[in-house]
Amino acid sequence: MKILAFETTCDETSAAVLAGGVLRSNAVFSQISLHRKYSGVVPELASRAHLEKIPFVLRGALGRAGVKTPLKRGCFDAVAFSRGPGLPGALMVGRVAAEAAAELSGAPLIGVNHLEGHLLACEFEKGKAARPLQFPLAALLVSGGHTELWHARGYGDYKVLGRTRDDAAGEAFDKVAKLLGLDYPGGPAVEKDAARARGKGPAFPRPHMPGTRDFSFSGLKTAVSYYLAKRLGQDFYKKGLRLPPVERAQVCREFQAAVVETLVRKTAETARSLGLKRIAVGGGVSANGALRAAFAGLEGFEVRFSEKAYCSDNAAMVALCALRRLQAGKFRNSLRVSPELADPGW
Ligand code: KG4
Ligand code: ZN
Repeated sequence: MKILAFETTCDETSAAVLAGGVLRSNAVFSQISLHRKYSGVVPELASRAHLEKIPFVLRGALGRAGVKTPLKRGCFDAVAFSRGPGLPGALMVGRVAAEAAAELSGAPLIGVNHLEGHLLACEFEKGKAARPLQFPLAALLVSGGHTELWHARGYGDYKVLGRTRDDAAGEAFDKVAKLLGLDYPGGPAVEKDAARARGKGPAFPRPHMPGTRDFSFSGLKTAVSYYLAKRLGQDFYKKGLRLPPVERAQVCREFQAAVVETLVRKTAETARSLGLKRIAVGGGVSANGALRAAFAGLEGFEVRFSEKAYCSDNAAMVALCALRRLQAGKFRNSLRVSPELADPGW
């Protein structure tokens, strides 16, 4: 089966071709440099950049996969796109491109859930969908916009058990990086700085919230902000005041440890309570080495991550979601969907 897929939920414009479970191409244009000076994604700029880049990304993906243009009828078995959750303006760009490609090739159009994409990205090995997930499992999906814990009972059979009540895990990394004067995106910058940390640093709270499977990271971010205000003065951010590098690295390490401990503990508790032996972790934050090490250290669970190349947003994972649906013979016409819909759409 040959699938063309698009991903435009946030700040990566991507198109991919998956044929017979093998990735023929996965073109990604990252908008990071565009948003860097704002230390976060600016939705209007993201939509415009998607609009500008999608023809090039599509041409790149088709060219690398050896698909002839103009598209002929029957050249794809399906055309897929991320239909949400994501930035509404950005989502529309991918959807319109997918609708046009589906119309030209006469293929069914499959809208997939972006977070399901992050989960299924764990199945790729060296560009092949070679490691199918074994269900049931507990899925932790941690990105810049979402933090969700799912009970995954099979492809397309997901129950959301918990989600963040405020900031997503990746968002907390990005905001703390901004407070510390580190680069955007904050996750990799905080991780890099944390790796340099030596000596005892400040202690930050672990936002465990007992009695619920939900997460909350804004209090942790506020704790970092209070610490900086105490060390540098109330107006530290406005005045551009920064911690000395040694202390900044300690703050990064301790903040990262608090996020990691919270994510791992809640996921493990949830899996145990449901009698699940498998855990899969996906999304941009799943690239974090400390998070991977902490999950690897959990006893009694088989834990899956995606290869690092597929942790951040990409169309390959969207194509794989569509493949699993085609194989299951279960998909519905995606022409009538609202970008706000967050259900997997099976
Ligand atoms: O999944 P993703 O690429 O895009 C969204 O769907 O949001 O996730 C992006 C998020 C950003 O917040 C970024 O800071 C975070 O993933 N991230 C990381 C790391 N790499 C990316 N967070 C922690 N450690 C990392 N190494
Ligand atoms: Zn994502």
